[in-house]
Amino acid sequence: MPSPVPAHPPLRVAVLGCGVVGTEVVRLLTTQASDLAARVGAPLELVGVAVRDVDVARDPVVDRALLTADAESLVERADVVVEVMGGIEPARSLLLRAIAGGASVVTANKALLAQDGPTLYAAADEAGVDLYFEAAVAGAIPIVRPVRESLAGDRVTRVLGIVNGTTNYVLDKMASEGLDLDQAVKEAQALGYAEADPTADVEGYDAAAKAAILASLAFHTRVSIDDVSREGITSLTADDVLWAERTGYVLKLLAIAERGTADGVDGVQVRVHPALVPVSHPLAGVRGAYNAVFVEAEAAGELMFYGRGAGGEPTASAVLGDVVSVARHRVLGGKGPIESRYAELPVLPAAAARTRYQVRLEVADRPGVLAQVATVLASHDVSIEAVRQSPASETPEADFARLVITTHAAPEHALRSTVDAIAGLDVVRRVVSVLRVEGA
Ligand code: HSE
Repeated sequence: MPSPVPAHPPLRVAVLGCGVVGTEVVRLLTTQASDLAARVGAPLELVGVAVRDVDVARDPVVDRALLTADAESLVERADVVVEVMGGIEPARSLLLRAIAGGASVVTANKALLAQDGPTLYAAADEAGVDLYFEAAVAGAIPIVRPVRESLAGDRVTRVLGIVNGTTNYVLDKMASEGLDLDQAVKEAQALGYAEADPTADVEGYDAAAKAAILASLAFHTRVSIDDVSREGITSLTADDVLWAERTGYVLKLLAIAERGTADGVDGVQVRVHPALVPVSHPLAGVRGAYNAVFVEAEAAGELMFYGRGAGGEPTASAVLGDVVSVARHRVLGGKGPIESRYAELPVLPAAAARTRYQVRLEVADRPGVLAQVATVLASHDVSIEAVRQSPASETPEADFARLVITTHAAPEHALRSTVDAIAGLDVVRRVVSVLRVEGA
């Protein structure tokens, strides 16, 4: 059956950027043209692809006649502008120009949204156009639309996400093959997951940008990347990964956004850090470079969204979904939801987060040591959930023992001062590691 021929005149689509994602966006726009036209109710006409250098060799799916280095003029002759170039500038100026000219925009640019989303939202609102960004968080996984629209009638209490595929791959390799961090990062680079400079991934900046976007949507509050407390995976060792497994956990880099209270004030707390996740938790089973976002909402309960968080085709899938949505609005009239920030919750400091710790210690192996450590925890009002002492054969020296203490939830500031006090005990030779426990 031929697709019905839409009566609406073509909508002009401009693509900014022709890297891995841009090429796949062009491929889908080209190869799926008749289905897309039927779904939108108008043909989508690719009017240009803006690139830095028009002479670089490219995938043949990109018609060279459409390439232009003049992105400014391109956005002015488009109804829908797709930004997949990344970076802050010139992406921001081009999107603002497109919006001012009345185009609807679709972007995959998490860094820009997390840093300066409000400027773009305000511009789109004023111009009465759509600004969609499903691909900015967790690639192909539908998470922006579910949080922004499907859960708009509920009250989200917490979002826990594995939103960086590179670090998940690295931690998974460390766990499954016993690699150290550097070896696993090199493997991730060889497979094209990690960049030559892996800082944005391994130091948690990429995850922090996504955490800010998710928190803003989930809590109807503006959260920028500067509000996110961030810790990457670079201090983790093969030993940390081994001990996680021994004690029934998996180490993951988590993006966490949750409702909380500090000094009687309700707010939100947003953070990115490595965490021990119980093996029984759905996030523990997220392997390799996959992403997943676990959402807790009052009425819906627990939800999990899982899939590919990066790569050309998965990201292009999310981009095209947005293109179809904004194009439909242009055909049928109206527009999608605008930024929702009515709640205006304060962003609480990292120290206000309630969390659990697993602390590994090397201590003197003699009577009364455990009691001293336990006394410090009790004096800081931190409750112990479990203690494990490793067999003498596993300790570096016969007169030292290794203790693994897991606490119940307590404010982060109480846990930090507890660990400082424990480290100061004469009987404690070394605090080997301090890891947060989440998802229990
Ligand atoms: N570098 C990211 C990741 C993908 O490893 O998941 C783009 O955000």
